[in-house]
Amino acid sequence: MKIAIMGGTFDPIHMGHLVTAEAVRHEFDIDEVLFVPTGNPPHKASMGITSAEHRYLMTVLATAANAHFNVSRIEIDREGTTYTVDTIKELSRMYGPDTQLYFITGADAVHEILNWKNSEELLQLCTFVAVTRPGYQKQQLLNHIENLRAQFHSSIKFLEVPALAISSSDIRKRVKEDSPIKYLVTSAVENYISKHNLYRHPVSFNQELVSKMSHYVKERLSQGRYEHTKGVVEMAIELANCYNVDTDKVFIAALFHDLAKEIPVEESLKLCKEYSVEIDQFEREHPHLIHGKLGACLLERDWGVTDSTILNSVRYHTVGRTHMTDIEKIIYLADMVERGRKPYPALEQIRRLAKHDLNKAMYTALSKSKEYVKSRGQEMHPITDVLLEEYKTYDI
Ligand SMILES: [Fe+2]
Ligand SMILES: [Fe+2]
Repeated sequence: MKIAIMGGTFDPIHMGHLVTAEAVRHEFDIDEVLFVPTGNPPHKASMGITSAEHRYLMTVLATAANAHFNVSRIEIDREGTTYTVDTIKELSRMYGPDTQLYFITGADAVHEILNWKNSEELLQLCTFVAVTRPGYQKQQLLNHIENLRAQFHSSIKFLEVPALAISSSDIRKRVKEDSPIKYLVTSAVENYISKHNLYRHPVSFNQELVSKMSHYVKERLSQGRYEHTKGVVEMAIELANCYNVDTDKVFIAALFHDLAKEIPVEESLKLCKEYSVEIDQFEREHPHLIHGKLGACLLERDWGVTDSTILNSVRYHTVGRTHMTDIEKIIYLADMVERGRKPYPALEQIRRLAKHDLNKAMYTALSKSKEYVKSRGQEMHPITDVLLEEYKTYDI
């Protein structure tokens, strides 16, 4: 028996995967192609990956019509991080010594293979089939394969598959933008995506993760602050749609923006010290401003978020900074004009401007805040004047 293993997140499985599997089967006279969807990575890294059950079921639907295709739950049912070598070993035990295993993988993975866990052992356990789309730096890959063969006496094959130009991330993007995905995925998968409303607004994370994140934030905020946060999320997503900004990122930034707001001052200062969060003199004197920087730090620490656009939006939502990105402006403004804000003189004006011109809204927001703070005999962070200068051409 010859069995080819095709691993992947399959988020979602598309025609490129199916064509590849069939091409490998034909080329190497394979009896069965076993699709192995990856499990969901634990807690931290799982952001952005649709739940394993959805991915598994779509893979089953897509492969059902081919008698030579099968799907395994082996990685989905395993807890914790999954390594390819463990999967191959387990499958090799299951199928016994008379079965020859092939492992289908992308060309990029072949370049990476030496960084994998127990790569040497892995290279002995099965025959690798490196698949690429046409036009990939073929010679470079072939040289690399030659080296691996010579070094590890491994068996690595190579196959070009035109349909590999299709990608799962492109399909997710198309669904989100309401573009057709017909003929890019099987019709069963297309129907499944639409029935379960996958990859759509507001976020492509699975519901389980969204409720986990919301629960985490809710536990750390008073009821009033949590209501405010929900208002900021709603407003920020609305603005993100006006400016074609990534709603997933905006969602996370808005949800976590006030995460550190209710940590007592003393503890905030202690945490800043512990995590080397730099705070300036003004912030030291006005410690309620620290929660932006500290919140970003906690978001990175507790959720493994490393995306700088998300972290900076949280970090600078309190007083802003020079050269803010659109997502930073969106969080800054949504915070000021969310639906639950108590009315203040410029509220409606800033809310309206925010939907039409972020820079005009920034100028008005900054100048009105300055006026207000001054009228109460208080001081603004020195950055405010620098920002007013930056946005002065947007004075309306
Ligand atoms: Fe805040
Ligand atoms: Fe806020």
